[in-house]
This record gives sequence, C-alpha cells and structure tokens, in this order.
Amino acid sequence: MEPLTTPHLFRDARQIRALSPGVYSGLRESESAAAYDRKAAIYEAVVGWPPYHRIVWGTSAARYGEFARSALAAAGGDPFAEIGCGSLLFTAEMYRKARTGTTLVSDRSLEMLRRAAKRLASHAHDRPARPIILHADAVSLPLLSSMFSSVLMLNLLHVPIDRAAIIAECGRLLIPREGRLFATCLVKTGRWSDAAMHVLHRAGELGVPLTRDEALDMMIGDWGLIESCEVEGNMTFVVVRHAG
Ligand SMILES: C[S@@+](CC[C@H](N)C(=O)[O-])C[C@H]1O[C@@H](n2cnc3c(N)ncnc32)[C@H](O)[C@@H]1O
Repeated sequence: MEPLTTPHLFRDARQIRALSPGVYSGLRESESAAAYDRKAAIYEAVVGWPPYHRIVWGTSAARYGEFARSALAAAGGDPFAEIGCGSLLFTAEMYRKARTGTTLVSDRSLEMLRRAAKRLASHAHDRPARPIILHADAVSLPLLSSMFSSVLMLNLLHVPIDRAAIIAECGRLLIPREGRLFATCLVKTGRWSDAAMHVLHRAGELGVPLTRDEALDMMIGDWGLIESCEVEGNMTFVVVRHAG
C-alpha cells in the first residue's frame, strides 16, 4: 500500500486506504458499493447534455460552473472541499490551476470518482495541482474538523440522502465564523418540472421535493446563516456562512 502523503487532513490516518496516487478511501472494501456506481454512465449521458438543464430545470451547466468557481475563489489560499463531486462534470476545468491551500474532492461512488480522475487527467492538470480524491460518505467524512474555508456541494442535496446529517457534517468541517457552504438544490417553484421532481422522487432518483424555504431551512442546519440565495428555474444556488 502506498504511504499516506496527506495525513494532515484525516481524523485517523489508520482508517484511510490509499487506492492509487492521490486517491484515498475512508470506507472498507466491504462497504464500497454505491448507488451511483451503476448510474454513472447514464448520469453523464443525460446530465452532460447541456440542453437537459435548460429544458427540464430552467438553469444551465454554465451557471453551475460559475457558482463552483465562486466557491473555490471564496477559499482563497485555505483548504477547499467539493463534496458529492461525482465525476467533476462541471468542475474539473476549474482545478487546472495549482492552489496554495489543499483541494479535496469527495464522493460516495468509486465509479464516479474513477471518471473524475480521468477527467482531471484529460484536462492536462499538472499532478501537483490535482485535487486529492477521497472515497467517503458525506454523512461521516474521515476529515479533521474546522479545516475548510469553503465547501461546495453541487447537486447533492436533492438526491436521496440523509440531508440533515450531511449538513451537520458540513458545519463540522467549516472554520467557525468564516467558513462557507456553497450548495445547490432543486426546489419546487411552480414550473411544470415540479411534477417531474415528484415522479423522480417516486422512482427513487430524487429526495423529497422541497420548496425554496424548506431547502433554506434544511441548509442552515444548527450552525449556518444564509448569506445569499438565487433561484434559477428549479435550482437554488445558496451560500451559507458558519455562524460560529
Ligand atoms: C446528482 S450527482 C451530482 C454529482 C456532481 N456534483 C454533479 O453536479 O455532476 C450526486 C452525487 O452524489 C453522490 N452521493 C450520493 N450520496 C452520497 C453520500 N452519502 N456521500 C457522498 N456522496 C454521495 C453520488 O455518488 C453522486 O456522484
């Protein structure tokens, strides 16, 4: 096994497996499987098709990219994490430039992370500039507390997950009073696609559809203050600051 080169990030480096250079797992092999392992190809085919966002959700891939870049910029030179990063469909490009702070991308699905690693390599990122890739469950991340100045969660909070536990975990990771969560979540806004959200929820693809106010309430957990909220189509783009 490759020796760990990033022990400063982990709560207990003994619980971390190095899978390949720069790729770690906080999960045991027996708990490795995840729902998105088998959905990865179809996810990329559908969600990677730009008109999908405009037609179905009234937003755009470009908007995700812009929001993600603002999350990365907010970290300055401090540690930054993208949680539920999937295959980095909208964010691989922004990791091209080396940063001084640690950059970590994490997801529950190894298949999504394999695609993320490929995408980083194909964007010709210099190896030293590449983010650390962590296979872990966002409900309980094997990371130290109060380390991150900015956390990005793109399109995670509307899939079937334990939202409250993941938001609590974000609160634990962020630097008190300074840290910010940048999160998107589909919400009901009276568009025709509200019905699509309910159908996808019944099919097990989405969590319980929320209104904007319910989503904001969920995102602050017991630690946050809403700094900004924009709604485009059915998508909310929310910045939550750690209240300390
Ligand atoms: C809708 S995809 C979004 C992926 C990526 N952020 C994007 O915008 O393309 C949801 C992602 O969340 C991941 N995920 C689901 N449950 C998770 C959990 N409990 N912890 C971490 N990641 C999770 C899935 O594996 C999947 O990659």
